[in-house]
Amino acid sequence: RVMRRKLAAGNWKMNGTAAALPELQSLATSYPDASVDVLICPPATLLHRAAEAVKDTGITVGGQDCHAAESGAHTGDVSALMLVDAGASAVILGHSERREDHGEQNEDVCAKARSAMDAGLKAIICVGESLEQREAANTLDIIGGQMSGSIPDQSTGENLVVAYEPIWAIGTGKVPTLDEIGEVHDFIRARLERRFGEGVGRSVRLLYGGSVKPGNAAEIFAVSNVDGALVGGASLKAKDFSGIIDALQ
Ligand code: G3P
Repeated sequence: RVMRRKLAAGNWKMNGTAAALPELQSLATSYPDASVDVLICPPATLLHRAAEAVKDTGITVGGQDCHAAESGAHTGDVSALMLVDAGASAVILGHSERREDHGEQNEDVCAKARSAMDAGLKAIICVGESLEQREAANTLDIIGGQMSGSIPDQSTGENLVVAYEPIWAIGTGKVPTLDEIGEVHDFIRARLERRFGEGVGRSVRLLYGGSVKPGNAAEIFAVSNVDGALVGGASLKAKDFSGIIDALQ
């Protein structure tokens, strides 16, 4: 039986300036040696200072996106090497907001993930269906397609994390039933095992994301193949995020 270390990941999205750093520091000092991995993904402008703020604590920081190339003429973009240089250990890729706002396709996400893994980052690859797709009973097809297209061949239990984020549950306060979460997570696990073999397939961590709060975290974490959460809104306040970390420990 493979032991997967639990992971609580916070996605600050386009929120946070230097004023948020003391809050991050207080979170870091409350978890000097957490028994779970804790990751905060602030905006790129804050990454280096956030990395300094959590230095020598149990918390690490990550990016929210990267370009597929190492460097070059890509105004406004940030490469995986730059994230590493700023102190990141991971990067979120293929979030539905990137797929929507920036037209990212599965193959773009895959190229970014290869670049991130080559740079030594963990790639947290997001998948998830829209409400329309769920209502049309297409959820598993959509997620299977996103997985085949966005997850690179070089993935391992060390460099890949998959986050299931139903688009309709993001920032809405709506959460799938525990059975629905379990169905998708079991499906993702089975697909990973089929593609990468049991050893790797069982060691990849699967996060649920979408309206996770201190109040619903424990029941979600009890679902099979849920190894943690990718948290938006509730990761912005140390008190809320602590409640989620505590539910995971
Ligand atoms: O990546 C996390 C996110 O999309 C979930 O957001 O605010 O519903 O926790 P939220």
